[in-house]
Amino acid sequence: MTATAVGGTPRSVPGRAGRALAELGDRVVMCGIYDEVGSLIYDDLSRNDTHEVRELIGLVRRRPGPVLELAAGTGRLTMPLLAAGRDVTALELARPMLDLLLARLHEAPERLRERCTTIEGDMASFTLDRRFGAVVLGTTSISLLDEEGRAALYRTVRDHLAPGGAFLLSTTYPTAGATQDEIRIDMAGASGRLYHLHEHWSPQTGTRTVTLHAADLSEGPVHVCTSTVAALPADLLENELAAAGFRVNTRLTLRTGGDRHESVLLEAEVEPR
Ligand SMILES: C[S@@+](CC[C@H](N)C(=O)[O-])C[C@H]1O[C@@H](n2cnc3c(N)ncnc32)[C@H](O)[C@@H]1O
Repeated sequence: MTATAVGGTPRSVPGRAGRALAELGDRVVMCGIYDEVGSLIYDDLSRNDTHEVRELIGLVRRRPGPVLELAAGTGRLTMPLLAAGRDVTALELARPMLDLLLARLHEAPERLRERCTTIEGDMASFTLDRRFGAVVLGTTSISLLDEEGRAALYRTVRDHLAPGGAFLLSTTYPTAGATQDEIRIDMAGASGRLYHLHEHWSPQTGTRTVTLHAADLSEGPVHVCTSTVAALPADLLENELAAAGFRVNTRLTLRTGGDRHESVLLEAEVEPR
């Protein structure tokens, strides 16, 4: 089970990105996306990333009560959930990510900060003494768990949902018939620093490798953060959720900027026994 695996940190980067980075030789310093170095890059980039936020908040609004956010990271979704007026418990495994979330909360207005509880923990194995109107697992973070980890997650989420509550999760995967694919996205972080984000999709292995580094490779060490995760089709997750006693009642297609990959937000409720 890889429930406690943070990222994936393969030592090699696939595709064109890997070949270009190999030319930099020992100037390349590999790191994980959620470690001490990677978390700073992740946070800088994610501050400008509004993907799925509007859709997620729209679904959460239909569920009264406190919200449990799993794999909360540095707060990309936590802050909008708080801004929507909800009490949020934010659970995160990686200490560097959680520390950045705590720093962000520290700077936030008290009316937001006072409604957030943070927990260092594993989303596939935790016990809290309250139940929630919504459990949120955004940003395709379900992909960080293997099959056994996902089964444990579904059981744990069930145990923490209030009656009438919903589990909201997102996933992204290649469309049917897609072949191996590589995309480079040039992005600016909130600091103004420019980055390259490489996505390498391999339908053969059913994986997606995300690699991040600063755009300026002109001199000095180049920190390269990389993570390989499963690309889990919505149908697979719907089947797993059904086997775990959930009924998926909403499947929202999210904007992806192309037609080679699908990104989907699922809303699942516990099936009455
Ligand atoms: C793709 S990021 C998403 C972070 C945040 N939700 C966002 O939208 O930016 C995935 C997060 O899951 C965390 N994570 C990985 N494995 C985990 C686990 N087993 N339990 C809890 N968090 C985990 C990582 O440390 C990382 O912060």
